[in-house]
Amino acid sequence: MTNLPEPIERVLHTEEQVSTRIQEIAAEISAKYAGRDLKLIGVLKGSVFFLTALARAITIPVKIDFLATSSFNGHTSSTPGMVRIAKDLDDAIEDEDILLVEDIVDTGFTTRYLLQTLAGRGPRSLGICTLLDRTSRRIVQVPVDFRGFEIGDRFVVGCGLDYKQLYRNLGYIAVLDPAALEPDEK
Ligand code: IMP
Ligand code: MG
Repeated sequence: MTNLPEPIERVLHTEEQVSTRIQEIAAEISAKYAGRDLKLIGVLKGSVFFLTALARAITIPVKIDFLATSSFNGHTSSTPGMVRIAKDLDDAIEDEDILLVEDIVDTGFTTRYLLQTLAGRGPRSLGICTLLDRTSRRIVQVPVDFRGFEIGDRFVVGCGLDYKQLYRNLGYIAVLDPAALEPDEK
């Protein structure tokens, strides 16, 4: 493919593949939650592109809300103590069916922390939907209900995922050239 931004090595999943997969997940979600009131909770900022595409493809009425965790600096630096909520939800989730929407579940620390925090607020149900799942780097186990793609141990950008806040707006998922990454992110 031509016209790739310079630090991008190769495209892992094309825009078309991503879009097709999102339609498939949306169909599964629409079937599973039919007749119920589903609220999608997005984790800012990485999940925004995925969440909006997913919400558009879901055929049942959904509510959306967002929270933000403390910023993640790099690929390997996340530890349980470093995760905190930097921006909380606007509304309560008590007695609601909640689907937490993530860009990627990597070590699992972020997701586990959010699951524990949200579970304490008394939702009727609490599921996890992630665009990308990198199980090879998992440190804490989290129950992923819906996943777009399993990916290997390479740093990726696009579809909401960033490197130093850039490349979130790429429609495809791409591997960065390792030479462009700082040492702790390779
Ligand atoms: P975890 O707590 O280790 O599961 O990390 C989750 C967060 O790390 C994600 O929400 C991303 O913000 C970030 N992250 C992990 N891997 C990547 C990657 O390959 N590219 C961009 N961000 C990543
Ligand atoms: Mg990030």
